[in-house]
Amino acid sequence: MTTSRRQNLDDAFAAAPDESAFWTGRTFDDFLFRPQKTDSQTRRTISVKSLLTAEIALDLPIVSSNMDSVTGADMARAMAMHGGIGVVHRGMSIERQASEVAVVKRSQSAVIASPLCLPLGTTIHQARRFTRQHGITGILIETASGSNLLAGLLSNRDTPVQDADQDRVVDEFMTPLSRLVTGAPDISTDEAERLMFEHRIERLPLIDGANRIHGLITRRDINLNRKQPGASKDNAGHLRCAAAVGARGDYLERAAALLEAGADLLFVDIAHGHSAMMEQAVAGLRGQFGSVPLVCGNVATGAGARFMREIGADAIKVGVGPGRGCRTRLETAAGVPQLQAIREAYLAVGDSVPIVADGGVKTDKDIFLALICGASTVMLGSALSGTDEAPGQVIQDPATHMKKKIYRGMTSPEAVLEALYDSGSSDERDAALDVPPEGQEIQVPYRGSVSTILQRIRGHLQSSVSYGGETTLAAVRAKVLPDPSAFLVPLSAAARIESFER
Ligand code: XMP
Repeated sequence: MTTSRRQNLDDAFAAAPDESAFWTGRTFDDFLFRPQKTDSQTRRTISVKSLLTAEIALDLPIVSSNMDSVTGADMARAMAMHGGIGVVHRGMSIERQASEVAVVKRSQSAVIASPLCLPLGTTIHQARRFTRQHGITGILIETASGSNLLAGLLSNRDTPVQDADQDRVVDEFMTPLSRLVTGAPDISTDEAERLMFEHRIERLPLIDGANRIHGLITRRDINLNRKQPGASKDNAGHLRCAAAVGARGDYLERAAALLEAGADLLFVDIAHGHSAMMEQAVAGLRGQFGSVPLVCGNVATGAGARFMREIGADAIKVGVGPGRGCRTRLETAAGVPQLQAIREAYLAVGDSVPIVADGGVKTDKDIFLALICGASTVMLGSALSGTDEAPGQVIQDPATHMKKKIYRGMTSPEAVLEALYDSGSSDERDAALDVPPEGQEIQVPYRGSVSTILQRIRGHLQSSVSYGGETTLAAVRAKVLPDPSAFLVPLSAAARIESFER
């Protein structure tokens, strides 16, 4: 093919014709990494920090997919605790999605700045529903709705469960202000911890001289903070949480509710991101919300990545059809092998806009390959599914007695139906009506806590960096990114069997 023909195709490889043959048709299982000499003595201290956007770094460069079988509040909280980030899916009503984000944002920080409150006179039945809905174990009681004046504290332990007590009011069961230990609004974490230990209490409300509520400190949050120094937090110390929006229908209303709930960034997520619809959506979001960080996708080509940079994406999500729940390639023939897509996108935009590699990761080595070929972070769906934190029930296979959970593509008939049922919003309706299924539902083995998986991924990534001869992921990327072909070994069919068949 002549150079001019290549340029007509607007292909990223036109800028680097030498790389074209090396990458075309290639994906994760096509390469191994050539081990480099290392001087490091231990892998445990190796940093795998990387950028999600120019402004937001992740201690663990992993993002959980915005899928209804992967990320709700529980997954997003766990992801942030481990240094990654979760993207709360949009296959539900605006109110529900915003409340999932709010749960994460309130869940762990040394000080909960705006703790949830209920007024005196609330029934036990209402209080129990409220704590369940918001995933909290104790609730501040204010003198009247919106007064912000502390009257007492109702913990789960104080709350009766008998039917006969459900219509009684919280006033009868709470610890009243007169018997509560409280702290001053500017109390230090150390002092708060000392007070909580001294009085053997789990929660310390912060109030001023007029009993106005200024915050709440919980012992659980202090402990969690200490255990997770690399957790992803915003400037106020709250866990970070991302959320997905679409590109039409009520996406602006959804975005407003999510940002109001505290979402740190929005993932503008449509199947074919290299589109006029994406351009209009980003313009709409910028018009209404200014510089809110936007991660936009999905694209799979250099031209698509350049387009995303031009319309102002803060990060570009790359991947068309590699996912385990995807049928896009089978149904439409559209797609680019995932490692090739990542490299094409990187050649097109370089380090100017970070790339999120989305989909197709089957083993932990794929994460490292994505990162050294161009991605800054990696989005995982199936790899994190089947865990306690992923939405959905554990089911037992009646024949084998094996425990399983459901994992499904967001355009699978099952996911689309559920989104419609929950939301019925024009956003979801449009999507459902326009797109024939390009996703499928599968059963995956139940895998316990996602923490174990994230710790394993961190450990393997640290080992990969060590094989890369460096002590930080950033250093390996800087060394390899200019020419990964010097570090990658293409595999023959026999070498693939030797490497991966066990
Ligand atoms: P993995 O391989 O990690 O992929 O399970 C997760 C990614 O798959 C994408 N996704 C879909 N792609 N049809 C598709 O073609 C779908 O229904 C679908 N649902 C999710 C998505 O990018 C996700 O992060």
